[in-house]
Amino acid sequence: MPTPQEPAAAVPRHVAVIMDGNGRWAQRRHLPRTAGHRAGIKAVRATVEHSVRRGVGALTLFAFSSENWRRPADEVDVLMKLFVEVLGREVDELAEKGVRLRFIGDRSALGTRSVEGMAAAEERTAGNERLLLNVAVSYGGRWDLLTAARRMAEKVRDGALDLDALDEAAFGRELQLGDCPDPDLFIRTGGEHRISNFLLWNLAYTELYFCDTLWPDFDAADYDAAIECFARRERRFGLTSGQVRGAR
Ligand code: FPP
Repeated sequence: MPTPQEPAAAVPRHVAVIMDGNGRWAQRRHLPRTAGHRAGIKAVRATVEHSVRRGVGALTLFAFSSENWRRPADEVDVLMKLFVEVLGREVDELAEKGVRLRFIGDRSALGTRSVEGMAAAEERTAGNERLLLNVAVSYGGRWDLLTAARRMAEKVRDGALDLDALDEAAFGRELQLGDCPDPDLFIRTGGEHRISNFLLWNLAYTELYFCDTLWPDFDAADYDAAIECFARRERRFGLTSGQVRGAR
């Protein structure tokens, strides 16, 4: 996490995105909702490419939440097949671009093909450093916190951790993004103003940006608008504006 004394950087190091609006994009065209998810892949590609272009170090995409399992079975099925299909098709190009791919979320809820595809893509891109692309699948912020809390409790129970040593840094390391700086910028497309159980711990001091663009229409110009808005924000991390300005 940046210290309060650091001035806001023009380009966020880590961007987290809720890609919302696929269903409405499709419905407006009298297409099935799943056509919106397929169309959303183009926006994923554009966002990854533009992250590399702008020098963003990490991008975290919310592809499927813990709660999305409750959607109609055929939509869940299409989404799961789409992840595997996209992975197989795009992994070489991602590797060439220097992208390291990583999945966060509860893999115990996923099918074998998905889990194997994810592990293979992670392995194939493990040495890349240009952009860390975290894809959240079967992920929920509460699940992440609970899983970390359970692990910490086990360590204390087993004598591997002294309770007094349990501080924010130690707890943060147990989370799914424990090795990643907190997101500087959060973007949600599709017009809703919610965090929807995304990275609950990590977003504590993230700058939030909401836009009405439906995800399949989100492009480099929309992304630039979000980054420009971010660059104008004053990040205070709990301090006063005078303190932050005085420290510059
Ligand atoms: C939310 O829109 C979107 C999703 C639940 C799925 C996002 C998935 C993709 C963009 C597909 C590919 C992704 C990767 C990383 C390969 P919604 O369905 O809730 O839209 P609505 O609010 O208009 O109904």
